Amino acid sequence: MNPDQAGGVFTAARQEFARWSARLWRPLGEIATGLARPMPGEHVLDACCGAGASAIPAALAVGPSGAVDAVDVAEGLLAEGRREAAALAVPQLRFLQADVLTWDGGPYDLVQCCYGVFFFPDMDAGAARLIGLLRPGGRFAVTTWLAGGMADLVPIGRAAAAPERPELAEAPRDPGPSARIDTPDKLREWLSTLGLHGVTVHLARFTQPLQPDDWWTFLLGSSMRGFVAGLPDDALHRVRSRFLDALARDGRDTLDASTIVGIGHRPA
Ligand SMILES: C[S@@+](CC[C@H](N)C(=O)[O-])C[C@H]1O[C@@H](n2cnc3c(N)ncnc32)[C@H](O)[C@@H]1O
Repeated sequence: MNPDQAGGVFTAARQEFARWSARLWRPLGEIATGLARPMPGEHVLDACCGAGASAIPAALAVGPSGAVDAVDVAEGLLAEGRREAAALAVPQLRFLQADVLTWDGGPYDLVQCCYGVFFFPDMDAGAARLIGLLRPGGRFAVTTWLAGGMADLVPIGRAAAAPERPELAEAPRDPGPSARIDTPDKLREWLSTLGLHGVTVHLARFTQPLQPDDWWTFLLGSSMRGFVAGLPDDALHRVRSRFLDALARDGRDTLDASTIVGIGHRPA
C-alpha cells in the first residue's frame, strides 16, 4: 500500500479503529513497548503510530526527560492519539503527520514499528531507512502478526468484497510481505538480514472472543476497509453478509491477534 492510500484508508477507518483501541491495539502496543523497553530520557520514533497504542506507553516510559516522535500518514488516527494523550500530560510525545519513509528526525535510541512495515511499498528498503535513523547501538523493534491469525482474514474480506469490486478479483493473490515475517524464525532471520545484531524474538498469544457485529467493525477499522471504500450502502450490506457468512462457515468465533515482536541493535 503506498503511503497516500494508507493515509486515506486509515483516516476513513478512524471511528471503527478507535472502537478497537482498548480491546486490541492498546494492549498489544503495551506488550510491544514492554519488550522494546524504552528507558527514561531516551528518544524514540514510533513509526506508523496510528492512534498511539505503543507511542503513549513509550512516552510514559521515557518520561519528561525523553521524547517520542509518533509519526503516521493517517491524520484521522493521529487525531485520536492526540485526544487520548491530552488527558495524560505527556508533553514529551508529539504526534506528527508524515510518510515515515521520508521522515528524517533522530538519531533515535529506539525505533519501534507495530504492524506497519508490511504496508511499505518495499518492506526491506523501508525498514533499512528506519534503521538508518537510529544512533549506533540503538534498537529497532518490529511487531507483526503470527501466521494463522489476523492475516487469514484478509482473503476472506477480499472475497466478500470482490463481487462489488471486480478489480479485487483480478488483483494478484500473492500473500504479501507480511508472510515473509509471520513466524518467530522468519522475523529473526529478516532482522538479521537487515544487519541488526543481538536479535531477540518474542511470541505473544492474544485472542478476543467475537460477536458477528464485532467482525464487521473490525473490517471497517482495519486495512480491509480499502476493499469497500466508496461502495454505496446496499453494496456494503451485501459485503457484510458475505463476510459474516464466510466466517460462520469457518466456525470462527475468536479473533486471533497473536503477535511476534522482534528486536535488534544497529551495529555500534
Ligand atoms: C495496522 S495500523 C497500526 C497502527 C499502530 N501502530 C497500532 O499498533 O495501533 C498501520 C498504520 O500504518 C500507517 N502507515 C502505513 N504506511 C505508512 C507510512 N509510509 N508512513 C506513516 N504511516 C504509515 C497507517 O496509516 C496505519 O495507521
